[in-house]
Amino acid sequence: PRKIWLTRHGESQFNTMGKIGGNSSLSKRGQMYAELLPDILASRVPKTADGQTYPMAVWTSTLQRTIITASGLPYPKVQWKALDEIQAGTCDGMTYEEVAEVMPGEFAERRKDKLRYRYPSGESYMDVIQRLEPVVTEAEREKECVCIVSHQAVLRALYGYFMNQPLESVPRIDIPLHTLMELTPRADGTMAEVRFIVD
Ligand code: G3H
Repeated sequence: PRKIWLTRHGESQFNTMGKIGGNSSLSKRGQMYAELLPDILASRVPKTADGQTYPMAVWTSTLQRTIITASGLPYPKVQWKALDEIQAGTCDGMTYEEVAEVMPGEFAERRKDKLRYRYPSGESYMDVIQRLEPVVTEAEREKECVCIVSHQAVLRALYGYFMNQPLESVPRIDIPLHTLMELTPRADGTMAEVRFIVD
């Protein structure tokens, strides 16, 4: 059967500094993940009924950490703005410690209701969920296997949708770095999941 893979970008420079958002490149570890991904994915692509390998597509965000992570994958690629990370607005480029210190009110608000909290001049998880609607529609219509290379908040939303997780739990779903999540639709409409940890 057809598969959908979800993965975050390889570890970024900003990840190593604990900074939110930005458009940084990959760290050495992140680059290593990008180099290992093609073989892992190739080994998982299913065969069609007539023994051919399934047609494949790769979707990334428009941020360089996902584009670089996908660069070695030998399949047609599409960049989606809708797959970009949650916009942290005025908090973009800050660490969580800095946000807590400089904007304690914002920090507390977010902690109270992470799903609905909207960053000043930025987005909430609800905003992200809404902008992903066309991506979800396309992913469900697609006949090809799709590997989605995106970001933590976006993948929480997509995973939550595909795996039928309660909306309130979405902002805290565990989506680790360097992990390929393979989702396979079951006959009953639910998804089977396997995770490949690459570290
Ligand atoms: O930079 C954004 C993070 O990937 C989202 O994480 O929603 O847990 O702060 P958070």
